[in-house]
Amino acid sequence: MTKLWAGRTAAETAQLADDFNSSIAFDSRMAKQDITGSMAHAAMLGAKGIIGKDEAEALIDGLQGILDDLTSGALQIDPQAEDIHMFVEQVLTQRLGDVGKKLHTARSRNDQVALDFRMYLRDEIDEIAALTKKLAAVLTDKAEEYKAAIMPGYTHLQRAQPITFGHQLMAYAFMLLRDLGRLTDCRKRLNISPIGSCALAGTTYDTDREMEAGRLGFDGICLNSIDGVSDRDFAAELCAALSIEMMHLSRLSEELILWSSWEFQFIELPDAYTTGSSIMPQKKNPDMAELVRGKTGRVYGDLMGILTVLKGLPLAYNKDMQEDKEGVFDACDTAKMCLAVMAGMLPGMKAKTENMLRAASGGFINATDLADYLVIKGLPFRSAYKVSGALVGKCVKEGKTLDTLSLEEYKEASPLIEADVYEHIDLRTCVEKRISAGGTSVQSVEKQIAAVREALGQ
Ligand code: ARG
Repeated sequence: MTKLWAGRTAAETAQLADDFNSSIAFDSRMAKQDITGSMAHAAMLGAKGIIGKDEAEALIDGLQGILDDLTSGALQIDPQAEDIHMFVEQVLTQRLGDVGKKLHTARSRNDQVALDFRMYLRDEIDEIAALTKKLAAVLTDKAEEYKAAIMPGYTHLQRAQPITFGHQLMAYAFMLLRDLGRLTDCRKRLNISPIGSCALAGTTYDTDREMEAGRLGFDGICLNSIDGVSDRDFAAELCAALSIEMMHLSRLSEELILWSSWEFQFIELPDAYTTGSSIMPQKKNPDMAELVRGKTGRVYGDLMGILTVLKGLPLAYNKDMQEDKEGVFDACDTAKMCLAVMAGMLPGMKAKTENMLRAASGGFINATDLADYLVIKGLPFRSAYKVSGALVGKCVKEGKTLDTLSLEEYKEASPLIEADVYEHIDLRTCVEKRISAGGTSVQSVEKQIAAVREALGQ
């Protein structure tokens, strides 16, 4: 195929070079954005009198025809084309003749590709944000269901203090709210139009960049044309936001895997989202959670990829920048899939609340509460901490727990201790007393649920 840029050279490149150079295999994803962008460009050229009004109309109709034909399948993308921009322009010119050749007035592929990429990622962000909201809502509903289910809370993966399962799940809902904030923020900075920056230096035509940007739903235009064609911050920023979001999903996955293990037996994941083993009949594997945890690595890789492509690149456009897309597309695809799978799986998750309670009761999870009890009775916290620690030591040695110690044994450790100690260190009391803002009491968790629902507009 004759190159649209044949002129300076004969354009008879080697097939190998053509294949190496081509980006059509992945940038054809942006066909819709490319065509919509070109329609706005044609409209602007017509409105400014740079081309005739009838010519602008012909271009817009022709572009609409290409979009319709691509959608219906009447037109196939040519895998031999150099990229989506060249393909669309070539088809347009085949269909319209000379007027098709006017479309590329006052622009360059450099600002065109930056425009398409921003428009494409803008749509992706909207989809990812909707999925993030969905998952946050699912987590919040689960938290409501289990707002009174006592389980051990861990630090260092050692039983630390009693909490509720609802409290733990809400921690993840808040992470997702922050992810949503990062996506919204990224979208704001992304939604600035580069079109009209042209190759790098702007143009001699009397264009109206604001008009074109406005038609395409942008909030403004890049004010420096060199930055306009060189900037890929939005792609790196999106990958960074998605990496953090995946990190959250990965931490949740890790807990789901642990909790569904035979050792913990805190939860049961729904059959529809688990798999069996080809050899061990007893297995019910949390594959979905493991895959989400694993796929986090590839999104981090996508972030490293885009940062490394951009590092050290001189201004303005360099062909290296064609390498900006695949990783970012992959990060978006991966995040969307993981969010959807998590939101599909979690509603069917069942907590084995008796096991959770048993695990919370077994250890010395109420040792802090015993110390707090002694503080109420007048002991300074440090001394109270020592008494409680000594009693735990005694229990470990004698195979007892704090609730099975006799009052005499308690009194030996401190005469301040009375019969009301048992009520005080009861797990339910321990949970119910943690009414501080953000704490684990049912009342506090209900407030957290309400706050997240409000943020989600529910
Ligand atoms: N396919 C190219 C890319 O993705 C489009 C821009 C080409 N610009 C150029 N000056 N060769 O980056």
